[in-house]
Amino acid sequence: MPAPDSQDVISRCRELAAISEITDGACRTFLSTAMKCCYALVGEWMKTAGLTVSVDSAGNLRGARSGADPGKRVLLMGSHLDTVRNAGAFDGVLGVMIAIALAEISAQSRLPFDLEIIGFSEEEGVRFGIPFIGSRALVGLLDEQALQRTDSAGISVAQAIDDFGLDPLEIPNAARKTPPLGFLEFHIEQGPVLDVADESVGIVEAIAGQSRASVRFLGSANHAGTTPMHRRRDALAAAAQWIGVVEHLACATPGLVATNGKIDSQPNVGNVIAGDATVSLDVRHADDSLRQRAYEDLHHAASEIAAKRRLELVWTELLSQKAVRMSDKLAAALDSCTAKTGITARRMVSGAGHDAMILAPHIPSAMLFLRSPGGISHHPAESVRPEDVEIALQIGRNFLDLMSTAYYNLESTP
Ligand code: GLV
Ligand code: MN
Ligand code: MN
Repeated sequence: MPAPDSQDVISRCRELAAISEITDGACRTFLSTAMKCCYALVGEWMKTAGLTVSVDSAGNLRGARSGADPGKRVLLMGSHLDTVRNAGAFDGVLGVMIAIALAEISAQSRLPFDLEIIGFSEEEGVRFGIPFIGSRALVGLLDEQALQRTDSAGISVAQAIDDFGLDPLEIPNAARKTPPLGFLEFHIEQGPVLDVADESVGIVEAIAGQSRASVRFLGSANHAGTTPMHRRRDALAAAAQWIGVVEHLACATPGLVATNGKIDSQPNVGNVIAGDATVSLDVRHADDSLRQRAYEDLHHAASEIAAKRRLELVWTELLSQKAVRMSDKLAAALDSCTAKTGITARRMVSGAGHDAMILAPHIPSAMLFLRSPGGISHHPAESVRPEDVEIALQIGRNFLDLMSTAYYNLESTP
């Protein structure tokens, strides 16, 4: 059978989108039943590509193949297999499918280094509110606090790992042993830059930092018809006022994006004043000090709103992830691999978070963005053009060739 081409890569992504834990769209969260079915199918594709398949204790799906010099150096490629709710078919998944295709394409020409393709178990933060569970484990940074986070059913990360048939005590073994040559992640841009410029691919130079928090306003529930306005302690009204402040600050601060994507109001009944409202906060900026200042200003604004309305505020920080620079050397390698296809790729800063940002401080990491038609992502209409996938596959082939040559040169250096 011929190795997968761009059409195969795209149809595999679409096939996986149908493996979902909800009936009306794509959704696969950390170690859910849908994830088990997804791993079975992706595992088969990995085997066809000549990879030995395993699932590590952080739930990452891994396909490995030894090179000519087993256990000496390994090249990592991949992305994540979890999704947001009502997701598109390509965020994360495309990077895993391109990596598997490249493994299969290179199967006959024995690479000098080991190759490992990783389908990270969790990048989005949907189930537990904290992202990057899989990639944090790979670099030995999945701590006890993260393992004790619970989902909406009260199940902890550690329990979810156990329920999946894995051992949370083994998590330290998920960390890499063989020294990595580098990590390469292919990903859709998820924004409009390449599409507007009519360009197929871009090379990521840096990834913006992000802060996430859970912000809870605690007031008291009461009757909607009998409680005078001045006596109310309305948690949802406080949350709404604060959400307005969040949007206003982001609009007034160049480069800042801030989002309240999730709200939980209790008792969530039309004729009862809400006594309890929890809102998610996601704040991002390429400049860490500006992100941090905005985060603190928003915390201060929430405290003031709560105090004026005689409410309690419970602010829980979930993530403070610094902006990260990709490896200059590997970005330059991608420049030359792209140039060989006749394209000059622009350098870009990613506003979206990626597994590469967790790996980059520990492993030389690179990312290639593929155009997102319409700039649409985290939405079922998310798509990718076959011709762009074809170019990405060609760049990936060039990258494997370049790394092989670099490896031989490295090894022959006295
Ligand atoms: C991941 O998609 C993120 O940036 O939230
Ligand atoms: Mn995403
Ligand atoms: Mn992603």
